[in-house]
Amino acid sequence: METPRRVEHQLTDKGYVPVYTTAVIEQPWASYAPADHAVWATLFRRQRELLVDRAAPEFVENQERLGMSPDAIPRFDELNQMLRRATGWELIGVEGLLPELTFFEHLAHRRFPVTWWIRRTDQLDYISEPDLFHDLFGHVPLLMNPVFADYMQAYGAGGVKASRLGGEALVNLTRLYWYTVEFGLIRSSAGLRIYGAGILSSKGESIHCLESPSPNRIGFDLERVMRTRYRIDTYQKTYFVIDDYLQLFEATRPDFTPLYARLAGQPSIPAGEVLAADRVIQRGNGEGWLADGDV
Ligand code: PHE
Ligand code: CO
Repeated sequence: METPRRVEHQLTDKGYVPVYTTAVIEQPWASYAPADHAVWATLFRRQRELLVDRAAPEFVENQERLGMSPDAIPRFDELNQMLRRATGWELIGVEGLLPELTFFEHLAHRRFPVTWWIRRTDQLDYISEPDLFHDLFGHVPLLMNPVFADYMQAYGAGGVKASRLGGEALVNLTRLYWYTVEFGLIRSSAGLRIYGAGILSSKGESIHCLESPSPNRIGFDLERVMRTRYRIDTYQKTYFVIDDYLQLFEATRPDFTPLYARLAGQPSIPAGEVLAADRVIQRGNGEGWLADGDV
C-alpha cells in the first residue's frame, strides 16, 4: 500500500494558505514511525492528566471505552468496531483539510474524517491545522454519546443545506460549530467542564478556558452564538456554556432557514463583547486580549 499524502497548509507570497483535499484513504498504520507514536504518547499523557478533572466526564469515560491509550496511535478500524456498535458512526481517514461541503456530507452520513498524520515533535504545543491528535483524541470520544452523535449528524445535514442557501448562512453555521464542537463548555455537578475538541487537544487552553479570569463565560443561546465572531490565532475571548447535549440538540432542531434570514439583517458581535441580554456566568476581565483579529 502506498502511503497517503500529508497535506498541510502552504506558505506563499500571500502568507499561509490552507490546502484542501477530498481523498478518503486507509490509515497507513504500519508507516507510523516510532517518533509518531512517541508524539501521541506524550500528548495523550499530558492531556489526560490535565483533563481528568477538567473535561466533561462522558469524554473521559468514552475515551476509556474506546480503549485509547498512550501505548500506540490507535487503529481506526479497531475504534470503528466500538463506534459502529455504540452510535453508528465510523471514522474515515483523510489527508488534511476537506472542502466545507465534502466535510458536511461526511458528517450527514455519520462518517467522521480523521487526519491520518500526526504533528511533529516541534509542534507539540501548537499546530495551526487539525492533525490526528486533535481529530482522534479531541473529537472521537463524544461520538460515542448518543445525543452528541445525533447533533453532529444534524449539523452535517444543516451544513449541506446552508451551502445551497448561500449568503451568510455558512458564516452563521460555522460560528455555531466553533463555539460548541470546538470550544464548548458544559455544566456538570462538579462545575464547568470542557467538551470542545479544540480545547481538549490544547494544553494551554484546557487550563485557560476554566481558570483564567480573562475570558467571558456565557450561557448558550443559539442566535447569540451564530452572531459572534471568534479568534483563530489566540485563546477564545468568550466561551459559551451548555447545560447538557440535549439542550444543544433541541435548540438546533428547528429549520434554520428563517433564522438565517433574520440574522442577515443584524450586525455581528465582536468576540469579547458582553450583551445586556446575556446570561453571564463569569464576566472576563479581558486581560491579554488583542484589540483586533476577530474573524
Ligand atoms: N436545524 C438545522 C437547519 O435546519 C440543522 C442543524 C442541526 C444545524 C444541528 C446545526 C446543528 O439548518
Ligand atoms: Co476540530
